Amino acid sequence: MAMEAEARPIIAALGAVETDCAPPLPAKFFVARVLDCEVVVAINGRDPRHDVDSIGTEAAALTTLEVVRRFSPDVLISAGTAGGWQSKDARIGDVYVSRGEFVHHDRRIAIPGFDAYGVGSYPSVDTAALAEVLGLKQGIVTTSNSLDENDDDRRMIAINGGDVKEMEAAAVAYVAELAGVPMLAVKAITDLVDHHTATAEQFAANLAMASSRLAGELVRVIQFLMGSDESPVGNRRSTS
Ligand code: ADE
Repeated sequence: MAMEAEARPIIAALGAVETDCAPPLPAKFFVARVLDCEVVVAINGRDPRHDVDSIGTEAAALTTLEVVRRFSPDVLISAGTAGGWQSKDARIGDVYVSRGEFVHHDRRIAIPGFDAYGVGSYPSVDTAALAEVLGLKQGIVTTSNSLDENDDDRRMIAINGGDVKEMEAAAVAYVAELAGVPMLAVKAITDLVDHHTATAEQFAANLAMASSRLAGELVRVIQFLMGSDESPVGNRRSTS
């Protein structure tokens, strides 16, 4: 997760306890037990130069690599808040799970081969059963390092069919694929990208509510991943 405000409700819901940090990274790690599983909530921490949460792809990739090396997870979840589109029936507070592939919409490299590298297209686990059982929306998650979007971003998002716009998931998915760890995203909508109100204003108004909705659904997603016969990462009840 990128922002402490996004993570606070799920840390509280799980009763997760902070464990050792990982200098020089500003990342923080909170550990909880859910049934027979260890759940690690990793947040990117505060940027030491600018004293704000370390949002964006660089911090997300570094934190994910640290999580993979230190905790050897069975599954990674990029969790947080995101923008959606009212033209695609998104509503503030909706919680989406990732579908298909994770893409970047701000890495434009018009050289054969590098163009596809720029988009990324890292796989999400199949969340169809999870979404149906839990009643969650599914969408293609599209990542950039900007909160707003320009015309080039809009064009890329349209080409790739993006439904959920945020700033970390494709970077997490990049590391997940390198490490061979299955990965999905769970994102709560704070703002409607195609609404006349400025994104930053919507985001500030809805961050607490969306983070609380995110925590509630994350608990259900974790329980589904661990306990369901339809879990895309295996049924942990039958493993020792
Ligand atoms: N996080 C929350 N809303 C977002 C948006 N519209 N774009 C990028 N990241 C976001």
